[in-house]
Amino acid sequence: MNEAIRSGQGASPRAVVTPELSVVVPTFNERDNVVTLFHKLETALAGHAWEVIYVDDNSPDGTWEVVRQLAQQDSRVRCIRRIGRRGLSGACIEGILASSAPCAAVMDADLQHDETQLPSMLALLQGGEADLVVGSRYIEGGNADSFDKQRAGASMLATEVAKRVLRVEIADPMSGFFSIRRDRFEQLAPQLSTQGFKILLDIVATASGSLRITEIPYTFGSRLHGESKLDSMVALDFVGLVLAKLTHDVVSLRFLLFAMVGSIGLFVHLAALFVGLEIFNLPFAEAQACGAILAMTSNFLLNNFLTYRDQRLKGFGILRGLLLFYLVCSVGLLANVGVAFSVYDQEPIWWLAGAAGALMGVVWNYAMSGLFVWRRQ
Ligand code: GDD
Ligand code: MN
Repeated sequence: MNEAIRSGQGASPRAVVTPELSVVVPTFNERDNVVTLFHKLETALAGHAWEVIYVDDNSPDGTWEVVRQLAQQDSRVRCIRRIGRRGLSGACIEGILASSAPCAAVMDADLQHDETQLPSMLALLQGGEADLVVGSRYIEGGNADSFDKQRAGASMLATEVAKRVLRVEIADPMSGFFSIRRDRFEQLAPQLSTQGFKILLDIVATASGSLRITEIPYTFGSRLHGESKLDSMVALDFVGLVLAKLTHDVVSLRFLLFAMVGSIGLFVHLAALFVGLEIFNLPFAEAQACGAILAMTSNFLLNNFLTYRDQRLKGFGILRGLLLFYLVCSVGLLANVGVAFSVYDQEPIWWLAGAAGALMGVVWNYAMSGLFVWRRQ
């Protein structure tokens, strides 16, 4: 490249240097870590053309403000502030796609990942030896001693499941620290899941052997400031990802959870019907109506808590969502009865007609709830 362009002197505004490496850092409540990480990157990547893209999900602690200030002082820093969305994987995907650098690295903001490994990772990608370089805790020379017993156990279990069920052959598919060639990433991106935490596992499973992968050891350090965002729900995300990859996206965890919540609703309905009839001596129609309302309400709350936890409705939105959910379910009930009747008409087998109706109902409720109740903002 022309030296004047490289240094930016006398160059037209369009001829700005493209970085060799884009470091993508997902952040949620990391305001005390982002500046320290930037300075560490400056030292580690001295001599390289690089940039860092922080992808912040509108952190309540104002991480994006701190990043924005940093970006105003140094054009190697960029900030993507996402509103109305949450999720580590989605943030990483957007960050990588926002860059034009030939190579991208993903790392945590909290200094648990070892930024001094970035130049070796980059060299392996640039040398054409690998398409993906994984920072691994579970090969010779790496470790995750900062984990407590519980976290170490969970990580081991998830790693084993990933290896056996998804036939992922790397030592540390749960790592959140890796570098990848952007063109290869771009090919896989449409098939990746934006939900959840396990972006690397998703990439490796989706590529199914088409990426050349190298692992390099590193020590998983302790968090500098703030706390981990991994909670017990991460296990659910993991199961969802495994299911989706295993069935080539035919089975979505969201639908399974929705259907599971629906079956819990059936029990709630029957229990309320029983209580209404036997304890309060209500007429059948009223007891049945109470049961239905109670079941829809508990289904709504459970779905809001579990199935759509990444898009959870809050405050006034809960009331609005609940009313819409009632509406969706009422139409779903009509669809259910309609289908059941027409099946029964053709083939008078009660369980077949009933199951067809129920399936129609749940598919309708799921599709419409996704469109109207928990629609993406
Ligand atoms: N934008 C965005 N949105 N960033 C997020 C979100 C989110 O919903 N959740 C977490 N992050 C950011 C955090 O701010 C941090 O920079 C990084 O993602 C990792 O989150 P941590 O909360 O630090 O996770 P961890 O240290 O417990 O887990 C790490 O180790 C795992 C391996 O055991 C992560 O690197 C995981 O990706 C990794 O699988
Ligand atoms: Mn971390």
